[in-house]
Amino acid sequence: MLAIYRKYRPTTFDDVLGQDLVVKTLKEAARRDRLAHAYLLSGPRGTGKTTTARLIAKIANCETREKDAAFRAKGEPCNVCNACKDINSGRAIDVVEIDAASNRGIDDIRNLKEIVATAPGFFKQKIFIIDEAHMLTKEAFNALLKTLEEPPPYVILILATTEAEKIPATISSRTQQFYFKRVSVDKIIGKLKDIAGTEKIRISAEALELIAASAEGSFRDAESLLDQLHSFGSEEIKLEDVEITLGKVGFDKLSQIAGFLLENNLDRSLETLSDIEDHGFNLAQFTKDLIQYLRRTAVLKYNPEMNEAFKGELMNEHLEKLVAHARIFKDGHVNLIKTLINAYSQMRYSEFPIIPLEVALVESLKNTNKH
Ligand SMILES: Nc1ncnc2c1ncn2[C@@H]1O[C@H](COP(=O)(O)OP(=O)(O)O)[C@@H](O)[C@H]1O
Ligand SMILES: [Mg+2]
Ligand SMILES: [Zn+2]
Repeated sequence: MLAIYRKYRPTTFDDVLGQDLVVKTLKEAARRDRLAHAYLLSGPRGTGKTTTARLIAKIANCETREKDAAFRAKGEPCNVCNACKDINSGRAIDVVEIDAASNRGIDDIRNLKEIVATAPGFFKQKIFIIDEAHMLTKEAFNALLKTLEEPPPYVILILATTEAEKIPATISSRTQQFYFKRVSVDKIIGKLKDIAGTEKIRISAEALELIAASAEGSFRDAESLLDQLHSFGSEEIKLEDVEITLGKVGFDKLSQIAGFLLENNLDRSLETLSDIEDHGFNLAQFTKDLIQYLRRTAVLKYNPEMNEAFKGELMNEHLEKLVAHARIFKDGHVNLIKTLINAYSQMRYSEFPIIPLEVALVESLKNTNKH
């Protein structure tokens, strides 16, 4: 069975979510039939770089676009002609995808030169997609530079990378560059909902939210996790299933213990902590999430305008919870964050990771209570 993230790879620009500027610019180029010879697509994983590279490949070779000017004006590939279908299924010989992370040897550079030097076999344009391009060797970049200086008319070179700053300027300056953004939690939830609907996957709202929030802006991570959870075959995916799979507690539990801490309620804090340990959650992960929660609370207390910046990372009702906690956050709580950071570095080497964490809570809550 096709993995969800493959099955739901956008086949049109309109389906590429959260990358408005990239989409707008490329659609316009497609309408006017003015693609560049080389592109550099950069940004976090799972945000649409490979997807966009394939869309460019289709725009360059779509037979319907070639024949039908009215259709061309849409700025989209048709997805029904042979070229589009071949590219969608990954069978197109003239679309060469190389993963630079696993092909770093001298043979590959020779290969690369050969591929660029030979005209396309079937298509109008030969598309050369180099993934993780920052991993290329110096020799490979030099070979590429030659191509970029005198690109054969039939070649479109697309570099994709998560680390644009590692691409030599001699290369990047000869490409058209697009920056892909981390995607907002809301957009991820929206797409997951659509997928769940089509696949008839039953999943609770809280479970969806945790999947989306833990994906850190990556559609692929979210879709893969949904896939994994679905393959367990339970009737309905519940929050607990996601929590167990991730070894990570959901927002509500996190918010609950943060509340106890901010109210200096040591009893309930320790109780909740022990509860979390009993359920087998990864305590280091939990501590990291708790630190992140409190850090956001602190930031909101001292700079309420950061609200805007957090909107992409959090759902609205979660953000409201944080804002409420920011109101009871006191200067002394900064120390709590510090102590937790300390505990975090200790617990990774401790045989009983809960102990540094408990000590941290006792220490900092006792102190805060005094002031
Ligand atoms: N902008 C996006 N809009 C909708 N789905 C996306 C987007 N970006 C990624 N995806 C989903 O994630 C999968 C992987 O995306 P991909 O383009 O390969 O990411 P990467 O940026 O790592 O190359 C796609 O098949 C698709 O299901
Ligand atoms: Mg990719
Ligand atoms: Zn087509």
